[in-house]
Amino acid sequence: MTDKKTGMRKGLTRYGDEGFSLYVRKAFIKAMGYTDDALLRPIVGIADTYSGYNACHATVPDIIEAVKRGVMLAGGLPVTFPTISLHESFAFPTSMFLRNLMSMDAEEMIRAQPMDSVVLVGGCDKTIPALLMGAASAGVPAIVEVTGPMLTGTHHGERVGACTDCRRFWAKFRAGEIDAAEVEELTNELVPTAGTCGVMGTASTMALMTEAMGMMLPGGAAIPATYADRPRHAELTGRRAVEMANDGSPAPAEIMTPAAFRNALRVLHAIGGSTNGIVHAAAMAGRLGITIDLDEFDNLGRDVPVLVDLKPSGQYYMEDLHRAGGLAPILRELAPLLELDAPTIGGQSLGDVISALPKAYPQQVVRTKDNPLFAGGGIAVLRGNLCPDGAVIKQSAASSELLVHEGRAVVFQSLADLAARIDSPDLDVTADDILVLQNSGPLGAPGMPESGYLPLPKKLAEQGVKDMVRISDARMSGTAFGTIVLHVAPEAAAGGPLALVRNGDRIRLDVPARQLELLISDEDLEARKAAWTPPPAHEGADRGYLKLFLDEVTQAPDGADFGFLKKT
Ligand code: FES
Repeated sequence: MTDKKTGMRKGLTRYGDEGFSLYVRKAFIKAMGYTDDALLRPIVGIADTYSGYNACHATVPDIIEAVKRGVMLAGGLPVTFPTISLHESFAFPTSMFLRNLMSMDAEEMIRAQPMDSVVLVGGCDKTIPALLMGAASAGVPAIVEVTGPMLTGTHHGERVGACTDCRRFWAKFRAGEIDAAEVEELTNELVPTAGTCGVMGTASTMALMTEAMGMMLPGGAAIPATYADRPRHAELTGRRAVEMANDGSPAPAEIMTPAAFRNALRVLHAIGGSTNGIVHAAAMAGRLGITIDLDEFDNLGRDVPVLVDLKPSGQYYMEDLHRAGGLAPILRELAPLLELDAPTIGGQSLGDVISALPKAYPQQVVRTKDNPLFAGGGIAVLRGNLCPDGAVIKQSAASSELLVHEGRAVVFQSLADLAARIDSPDLDVTADDILVLQNSGPLGAPGMPESGYLPLPKKLAEQGVKDMVRISDARMSGTAFGTIVLHVAPEAAAGGPLALVRNGDRIRLDVPARQLELLISDEDLEARKAAWTPPPAHEGADRGYLKLFLDEVTQAPDGADFGFLKKT
């Protein structure tokens, strides 16, 4: 369903009489105090993802004020509308379960309500993918403004920030190095300001990929949430949204092209970005009929070293990246590898954007290609009999000595099984073993939670073990680190080979060779497959959103989107 009319005439409610529909609409909107002049302006919708549960979006009201100012300075009429808001720590069972719902909300509200362009305000991990998935499907000219990263805090004189340090200190607690009182104290400093996680987590990854893809005005990805630069950038976004409303373009499909996705994926490698970036890219691309090929993604990374020295791969935080120039030094360094003809939302090509970047200056955060943080791309794609449809590992945040490793499988059949046994003194496990978590994928958990960062068994943590090879069909927070294989596909709950692994099996991981193998014969694997039975149905699986999710969700290589939302 499309409607070529503009402004308040767009998408009239179907009462069977268009004149009546417009007249009634006008009467109701006038109750908001608008003049006729205001109602004749191009309308810029602003997706409001503020929620009292979402600290990453605490500054959304200020950003919206700035966007509105920009819209009005340019002669448009800004109209905000609420959408679902997802915070990582406030969504059961996982925000990923709700990402597709948020995307459907965004798509339908953008389509249903009269707006000539839309500003997508979001930040926390799933919100930018969800908004872009929805906007891509709705087809209305759209532009992104992110909330921006939080600042860092200080704990006992040490700089800390969410959430790599959350995990680091929790690991210390589990190892008995700090006590519960210190953990409590840390909760005051790990998230010291509003904004998204201050490391190269999923939010930072998606912000930088969005800017690289051209869906955000230059310079917007890394501005901290609390800096005055943030509303300034938002004001410019509002102004640009009016031009887009007047022009009726560009639609997301004009910017989110295959070349733009490839550029974003190169940036994903170069920033040591979250493994979630590849899942979300696949989902966003799928909305436009574009396929992200995992092997092509791996190949793109072979030429792209990790340049950005941010946690969890490196040492700095997002506010440092902002001071170092944000995406600009990354683009400058990557320029020879990028597809510079790709258009951007500001109207220039990516090449023009790079040519217009301010002069480079000395900084420590973004390395040169000759002196990278990690020589390969940030993420490697694995193949083998354990993951016929692929798996990923963030090799830049793994232990180099474990990138080639063979070990004995210690299998957990579910998250509940993991929670029940991982700290048992009786668990038969050594540091050389490989921890395997089954049934934590899109169907299995459900929702593919960030449980791929399996905790180290307490008895090993107490012995000083810092990392082990871990394998699952789950995801992992971009803020986490370790030798962790994720997104194994097909997932265990769909009958993938991961479901067939048994305690004591040998597994071989070889990241340089891109291989992940279960070392049993094909005959044994087939016999186990024939005997496999699916896990019990989830409680409540017979109705509502959970039913829709389980009926329609795709596997990780397809972005775990709903099949019926993809463009065919
Ligand atoms: Fe929102 Fe990390 S919890 S970005």
